[in-house]
Amino acid sequence: MADYPTLYTERLILKPLELADAEAIQQQFAHWEVVRYLNARVPWPYPVDGALHYLQDIALPAIARGEEWHWSLRLKSAPDQLIGNISLMDEQDNNRGFWMGLPWQGQGLMAEACAQVTRYWFEDLGRDCLRVPKASPNLASRRLSERNGMRLIRIDDDEFVGGRYARETWEITRKEWRRFK
Ligand SMILES: CC(C)(COP(=O)(O)OP(=O)(O)OC[C@H]1O[C@@H](n2cnc3c(N)ncnc32)[C@H](O)[C@@H]1OP(=O)(O)O)[C@@H](O)C(=O)NCCC(=O)NCCS
Repeated sequence: MADYPTLYTERLILKPLELADAEAIQQQFAHWEVVRYLNARVPWPYPVDGALHYLQDIALPAIARGEEWHWSLRLKSAPDQLIGNISLMDEQDNNRGFWMGLPWQGQGLMAEACAQVTRYWFEDLGRDCLRVPKASPNLASRRLSERNGMRLIRIDDDEFVGGRYARETWEITRKEWRRFK
């Protein structure tokens, strides 16, 4: 059992990730448009047991160690359907990640989820600073950082699933986040 809570936004339920989510993640995540700007640690072509392996060997052990917090995203109007994921990580310069299934993109849903988990990071986990990396061509992700009051602090480059791109690192401190709210 996860020892962190289910969170809610206006339209979404953020439910702690569990092994039973593997099949739905496999279906919604394994699409080029979803993975192309993710870090090259994501295997591509995505193996048939990719989601199960990710849950069993990476995400759930990190949750158990108290180093990561992962939620599946579900619409309140259709709670049985997993539509995306959002995560927080105690990792150097990489504290939040997310993806949304293609049919649900562009409806402002990740903006809602982001606001809630960012609040969780600062208020419940008590962290001082949130940093996120992203591929420069990932305009939707960049927009989310801009809209969250984050600052671009560094540009270098890195390997992503779609190739080598400029990598932006965005940051917001707790003080800035409080002012921004
Ligand atoms: C990034 C992602 C999670 C955004 O999810 P979403 O639910 O579609 O996001 P929202 O609808 O809340 O939109 C967020 C902002 O991005 C903008 N946006 C959405 N899709 C866009 C696109 N293809 N190009 C440019 N801007 C886009 C929206 O207009 C919105 O900006 P606004 O508030 O100024 O209108 C989604 O595109 C995704 O899953 N991408 C693949 C995985 C990924 O790249 N994850 C992030 C890794 S850093």
